[in-house]
Amino acid sequence: DGFPASRLFASKFSYTFDDLIFLPHYIDFPADAVDLSTRISRNLPLSTPCVASPMDTVSEASMAVAMASLGGAAIVHCNATPDHQAAIVRSAKSRRIPFASDPAFFAPSDAVSSTADFGSASFAIVTESGSRKSKPVGVVSRSDWEAVADKASPVSDYMRLPPASVPSNYDLEQVAGFLAGEELELVTLAGEEGEVIDLVSTEDVERIRGFPKLGVPSLGPDGKFLVGAAIGTREEDKERLAHLVGAGVNVVVVDSSQGNSKYQIDLIKYAKNNYPRLDVIGGNVVTMAQAHNLIMAGVDGLRVGMGSGSICTTQEVCAVGRGQAKAVYKVATLAKDYDVPVIADGGISYSGHIVKALVLGASTVMMGSFLAGSYEAPGIYEYQNGRRVKKYRGMGSLEAMTKGSDARYLGDNLKLKVAQGVVGAVADKGSVLKFIPYTMQAVKQGLQDLGATSLPIAHNLLRSDVLRLEVRTGAAQVEGGIHGLVSYEKKAF
Ligand code: XMP
Repeated sequence: DGFPASRLFASKFSYTFDDLIFLPHYIDFPADAVDLSTRISRNLPLSTPCVASPMDTVSEASMAVAMASLGGAAIVHCNATPDHQAAIVRSAKSRRIPFASDPAFFAPSDAVSSTADFGSASFAIVTESGSRKSKPVGVVSRSDWEAVADKASPVSDYMRLPPASVPSNYDLEQVAGFLAGEELELVTLAGEEGEVIDLVSTEDVERIRGFPKLGVPSLGPDGKFLVGAAIGTREEDKERLAHLVGAGVNVVVVDSSQGNSKYQIDLIKYAKNNYPRLDVIGGNVVTMAQAHNLIMAGVDGLRVGMGSGSICTTQEVCAVGRGQAKAVYKVATLAKDYDVPVIADGGISYSGHIVKALVLGASTVMMGSFLAGSYEAPGIYEYQNGRRVKKYRGMGSLEAMTKGSDARYLGDNLKLKVAQGVVGAVADKGSVLKFIPYTMQAVKQGLQDLGATSLPIAHNLLRSDVLRLEVRTGAAQVEGGIHGLVSYEKKAF
């Protein structure tokens, strides 16, 4: 009954997740018995198979610490100077709590002109010179500024004294214990040199404590949160790589929409020769031939997908790419022989897509839009037609390329830039600390239906033709979605 994957993917069709459906197998264990532990790359284990995309509206310090605390990981984007990107990595790696607010820094004589000066944080830090490294002399909150009559007055007029600090590598219970013991509402996190890196309130602690627990936090061999970062394929990316290694990055992703290039292969060899203990993920690839070249160059992981992302226009603009289900299956078939884990990148809209990507051979899924719009995504919430939204943009959009991400899409300094992505907005989804645990519960239920208690078992069931698939007709896809109701409320948890 049904078709084995080897037969289904031997056809001429470029199937993606929605085209396919698995036939159920046999269950003799509860969903909670499913173990989702995996690897992001050859040497780096994760307990949750989720990775946040290297995009400037998805992955900075806040996403990196949240994803690592959930047992997943984030790849810090490279649409920033090497110094700034390395500072984000350092900031994420210096903490053990899943919280980073990226506060603004003011000098005492500075005046706040609008709440936008606070960025997305509720508090700003006042230091002697206004720089991160100088001595803290106070803190101001948004509400402190809102209560001030003369908005042009310097922050020194209404700032509070800086609260006591704890080392930035305190875990959540240590921070909570300190706040309770000292009866404080606010504490600063201090880095190794005593510099203030963030402010944490009792409200933040209570919010985080209320989320469901998931997996074992991802720690690198250094015992700190596992953090990844993206680099481009230009000559100057060697310097960026050196900055990132200096900041303690555990894994780098060579970020290119068509990874099978001399530039990428040279960079992979350079990275592996100069930093043998660093895991290097190559991509993006969608064919076995592309993947083979990067495996021969020495990659520790492969990122799969071309044009499958929600904000991507690569397939329309360049007429190149592949349906994501087939791309994942084909690349994973080859990568398995070399023990190279595969990341299914792009096109994930719900848990069923994650189940499909993982069972078809991926070790992790990489997500942009699914995580954008969350509390942890960079940027501030805005209102559009009465809905709370956050910006989400393709790294190949003109807006992002103007900031420097053109290397991924053009590979060189072309004068005429053509967009391969769009700028949009996604709805407020709350915290990833809440919706990723629920999503993973759904993924476990999917694996249970297929009779697989782990990802390696699912891969073996697929490769040994025990699991069967079919192509869904247009009508079957409609039937599989919500239909025939006058109205409904869609709530997943
Ligand atoms: P999702 O579907 O999760 O996809 O939003 C995220 C992935 O999309 C890729 N990406 C792009 N692809 N033009 C593209 O063709 C773009 O502007 C663009 N920006 C991101 C990237 O692989 C990401 O992980």
